[in-house]
Order: sequence, then structure tokens, then C-alpha cells
Amino acid sequence: MPKYVDQIFNEDALQALHRIPDASVDLILTDPPYGLGKDYGNNSDKQEAREYLAWTERWIDAVLPKLKPDGSLYIFLTWRYSPEIFVMLKQRMTMINEIIWDRRVPSMGGSTRSFTSVHDTAGFFANSKKYYFDLDAVRIPYDAETKKARSRSIFVGAKWLELGYNPKDLWSASRLHKENPERVDHPTQKPLEIIERMVLASCPEGGLILDPFMGSGTTAVAARRRGRHFVGFELNPDYCQIAENRLASSEATLQILNNQPSEPVREKLAPSELMAAPTRRGRPAQKKQEQSSVKTPASLRTEKMQNTGSQGIETKQTEIEMQTSLWSENI
Ligand SMILES: C[S@@+](CC[C@H](N)C(=O)[O-])C[C@H]1O[C@@H](n2cnc3c(N)ncnc32)[C@H](O)[C@@H]1O
Repeated sequence: MPKYVDQIFNEDALQALHRIPDASVDLILTDPPYGLGKDYGNNSDKQEAREYLAWTERWIDAVLPKLKPDGSLYIFLTWRYSPEIFVMLKQRMTMINEIIWDRRVPSMGGSTRSFTSVHDTAGFFANSKKYYFDLDAVRIPYDAETKKARSRSIFVGAKWLELGYNPKDLWSASRLHKENPERVDHPTQKPLEIIERMVLASCPEGGLILDPFMGSGTTAVAARRRGRHFVGFELNPDYCQIAENRLASSEATLQILNNQPSEPVREKLAPSELMAAPTRRGRPAQKKQEQSSVKTPASLRTEKMQNTGSQGIETKQTEIEMQTSLWSENI
């Protein structure tokens, strides 16, 4: 395994990305500064609009050559700059989806001159038409009620009913409020459940995920939980330490189960959708893959990162045991 794999470097991504070989990464999954003035212990989110967009274009051009031909990219943004940044990316890649993350922020007053913004925008882009995408890994199981509603003989034993349905592009999952056990000391930490869905859908098992803006290490933790590798950068040494702690904790325990999210983003079928569920003729195509046959070894040797300053990160071996989810429902 190359030395840079499974490490987060406390460095400026723009200065360090050149160390990652071109065409070596399966998935770029990133959540850059949004340009909204957040305090990350540095000025990265405090650039004026034109400067911010020019900087964004620079890192996009530095990161895209790292992707394999069938690789893809997810980028979290805000509505303020997603139009400009999506145009940049559309000039370089194929846009597959705009995903809206509904953060489920409760209404608490706020501006009287605008509507309250409660969503982040995530763009999903692919390098080519042959991009990797494993729909079966992220299907949402139908609940017992739904299955019962489809109990007519033509549906009995229908595989689509067992496989579950395709997640839509509106993902409703609570932001990580202070009471949430997953929450660490980072102002814009993303919930694992949404990052894991992207990982499962768009990176093959054992593949490599690059996040140039790791923050508290959510992408790395999601990768490890799902049997993928990671590499990334983070400017703030305190966040690197937080990421290291998360990777060393049980939070980063490998989840094998049946390769589906253990805590899928909650979505309830509306009665109208029940009626529109696919018929035998329109049933979803099935991949040639056994549902619960993730061939993961009983234990996995992985590297634990340890910060050694700007020279990089030493590695130490730890053993990750297979076990079922430690997570309780958090939304
Ligand atoms: C939106 S946050 C990422 C949060 C992350 N997704 C999480 O769940 O914790 C963006 C991060 O990028 C870091 N950052 C900003 N500019 C950077 C750069 N040039 N290189 C590396 N990291 C950078 C910031 O310090 C900040 O922690």
C-alpha cells in the first residue's frame, strides 16, 4: 500500500496534492469552505467572493487529475456559490445529480426579509459515462408497513420489494446538534450517515477516497467504516487531532453487515409513492451481486495516523474487528 494511503496530512491541500499520483483515486468526496466566513482557526472561509471562486477553481484543477477514468466527485456547497462552482465542474466533468441535504433545522425566528435556509447543496459529478455506481449498496429497505401494502400475489417474493428503493436526491437528515453523540468540536462536521451513502454508492470496496478538506475527518471515518481507503489534508492541526481520535475510536469500526448503511438516511414513503412503486414490468435491474456477500476478512489491518507535523504522518498498525453498528438512531 502506498505510504500516503489512510493518512490525513496537516498541510495545505493545494501545496500537497501533487504527491498523490494521477488517476489513482476512485472517489473525491469533499466539503470545502463555503465562503461564508466560518472560523476554522484560519482564514480559509473568509475570502471575498471573487478570490474564493478563483481559489476554488485552482483546487478543482489540482484535484481532478487524481481521479481514475471511472471515478466521481461529490462536493458540498451552499446555494450562494453552487451555481458558479457547478458551472466550473460541468466544464470539466458530467453532472449526475444535485443532492439537497435538508438539515432539518427547527424554525427559530431569524431573518424577516428572507426565507430560512435549511439545506446544503451537494453536487455529484462523474469523470466519464462509465462511472462506478453501486445502487444496490444504498437501496432503502421498504418498511414492514409498505411491504404489507404490497401483499397482492403478484408482489409476493418480488425481489425489488426485498432490495429496497433508490434513494432520491433530497436527503433529509438532522445536522449534528450539540447533544448528538457523533458531534465533535468542528463547526461544520457532516453526519456520517450521508457521507457513508456516498462512499457505498461511488467507491468500490478497497478503493481510495480523497478529501482535500478533511475537517474533523468524517470522510476518513466513513471510508474506514465501509472498508475503503482514504487520503486527505487539513490545515488546522487541532482538527487533525480530532480526526486521529475519531479514527482510533470505536466510531471507526468496520461495518460489514450487508454493505448497506446501518443507519440509512431516513426517508418515509408517502402514500402516493406507495402507489407508484415499480410493477413487475418496471422492476429495478438487479446487479449480479449477492446481497450479504461482502467478502471482507474477519479482521482488517489498517493504519492509524499519527501527526508528525508538516513532514507528514507516521503510521501504526491497529486491528479493526468486525462488529455490528454501535450507532443509535440519531435523527
Ligand atoms: C467545511 S470544513 C470540512 C468539514 C468536514 N467535512 C467534517 O465533517 O468535519 C472545511 C475544512 O477545510 C479546511 N481547509 C481550508 N482550506 C484548506 C486547505 N487549503 N487545505 C487543507 N484544508 C483546508 C478547514 O480548516 C476546514 O476544517
